[in-house]
Amino acid sequence: MLDSGSRRLMDEIIDLKKQKDVFLLAHYYQRPEIQMIADYVGDSYAMALAARDCSQSTILVAGVDFMAETAAILCPDKTVLTPEPLATCPMANKVVIEDIIKYRQEHPDAVIVSYVNTPAEVKAVSDVCCTSSNAAKIVAQISPDRQILFVPDQHLGSYIAEKLGRNMELYSSECPTHQRITAEQLDQLKEQYPEAAILVHPECPKEIRDKADFIGSTSGIIDYAVKSPYQVLIIVTESGIMHSISEKCPEKKAILASEELICPNMKSITLEKIHYSILNKETLVEVPEDTRIKSLSALEKMIEWTSRDTG
Ligand code: 13P
Ligand code: SF4
Repeated sequence: MLDSGSRRLMDEIIDLKKQKDVFLLAHYYQRPEIQMIADYVGDSYAMALAARDCSQSTILVAGVDFMAETAAILCPDKTVLTPEPLATCPMANKVVIEDIIKYRQEHPDAVIVSYVNTPAEVKAVSDVCCTSSNAAKIVAQISPDRQILFVPDQHLGSYIAEKLGRNMELYSSECPTHQRITAEQLDQLKEQYPEAAILVHPECPKEIRDKADFIGSTSGIIDYAVKSPYQVLIIVTESGIMHSISEKCPEKKAILASEELICPNMKSITLEKIHYSILNKETLVEVPEDTRIKSLSALEKMIEWTSRDTG
């Protein structure tokens, strides 16, 4: 239940957005009260497209830094704001740029595929980006005779390699939030709810994915929850997704697999910070122009390849 202070703040933010021509763009892992007042809530890929296509002059990104950077790369004529500049992604930050440059030098013919969960500097030295919703489609379009380095999520990478039967070199990083569940916990839940479907994000390790009835991005999980005949759903991704699932299929019983599935960076964004950010036009998200141009190429390629009809 939201208290009256939060409700007042939400109303003020709605008014301020209109006054200052701000598009509030949120990820599914945001707090429910933020999703409720956002102009758009989506997965990483849908957020990028929504930023590119919005008509407002300012975009406030309620998500972590790589999401705000992606908006800044795609929208050079818009002001991009983050309400919490320290909201970051530990998986993305583990990439050492020198590793990627060295790989490029040693394997000039290889294709470097970067998950959007990377800093702009890494996108700038990559050939193409992907998100969890389009990674399989992107990798499937790379000629089988080309070597691939997949950066940085080893679990998403191994899932795609397995799914496509394609050998890829995997960078060694992972999302700490999606490691906060064990196979034993899932077995116990399945024993308790034998009729339930298990819906898993591909950032989870293989022993968790192997227990899934469905594997997909956050929007993929929500779609499956809504459309599948299952009435009981065990959800294995960050807790924020439960808000959208309960909004979109209130008649179903959706159970978060563990209360530990919380991304502290996503949750560091609050109504108060959003209010301050719009009011004071802080904090600006800026990507140096040479990095922006280079990283734009990998992002544009992702968008083009995703929209192709590959049959
Ligand atoms: P998607 O919403 O694209 O599935 O991404 C999940 C995630 O971990 C974002 O940080
Ligand atoms: Fe990064 Fe994981 Fe948080 Fe997403 S949920 S921002 S991948 S740490």
